[in-house]
Amino acid sequence: MTITTCVFDAYGTLFDVAGAARSMAEQPGREEFEKHWQKVASDWRLKQLEYSWLRTVSNTHCDFWDVTKDGLDWALEASGFTNDPVLREDLLALYWELPPYPDGLRTLALLKAQGFKTAILSNGSKDMLDGAVTGAGLESLLDATLSVDDVAVFKPSRKVYDMVGDHFGCTSNEVLFVSSNGWDAAYAAHYGFITVWVNRMGLPMDRLPGTPTHVLSDLTTIPDLAKA
Ligand code: LAC
Repeated sequence: MTITTCVFDAYGTLFDVAGAARSMAEQPGREEFEKHWQKVASDWRLKQLEYSWLRTVSNTHCDFWDVTKDGLDWALEASGFTNDPVLREDLLALYWELPPYPDGLRTLALLKAQGFKTAILSNGSKDMLDGAVTGAGLESLLDATLSVDDVAVFKPSRKVYDMVGDHFGCTSNEVLFVSSNGWDAAYAAHYGFITVWVNRMGLPMDRLPGTPTHVLSDLTTIPDLAKA
């Protein structure tokens, strides 16, 4: 089946989730945070995801912004930053304007020029995604920004992957789904999408149902792969 629609995960795939903590560590007066920012960034992301999965299996869905705040609070406490409300507020503000990966901008532009439909499919709330997309100047490169807000459950629920066919009227085997999250790529493959795992960090493959169709180290060859 020919690919018609290229769908991207947002956080970690198009937007650098470590960007908020990295940017904070570079600011004057943040020398103590500079020593710990990588652990904070890693804990923040892991807890954000863990909480999203736990809220899905326990039927206690909330906005992705809530699990983002809860994950940050856990990460800051784990690294001893419990009495710095300004640090917390500044990190949260930076999360609304995460830096885009340069290869994402270029890839989306090429895919649009080649005539593919393009979209984001993300756990992010609509307003978080609007902030990130607008901040990165991606509006004109995307046909849709699909947020789990519409189904009130997080990935990897099939209800989230269903949103692509519901929106575009396409079958799963016309969709190239791209994620840097191994678990997301695995379950998207299990769902039936042609799937790319962008393994930016050279991690082992997740032992989960579904095997990504392709494993790449970045997004640069996706336009060639989509039209092949
Ligand atoms: C997303 C997270 C999982 O954008 O990265 O959906």
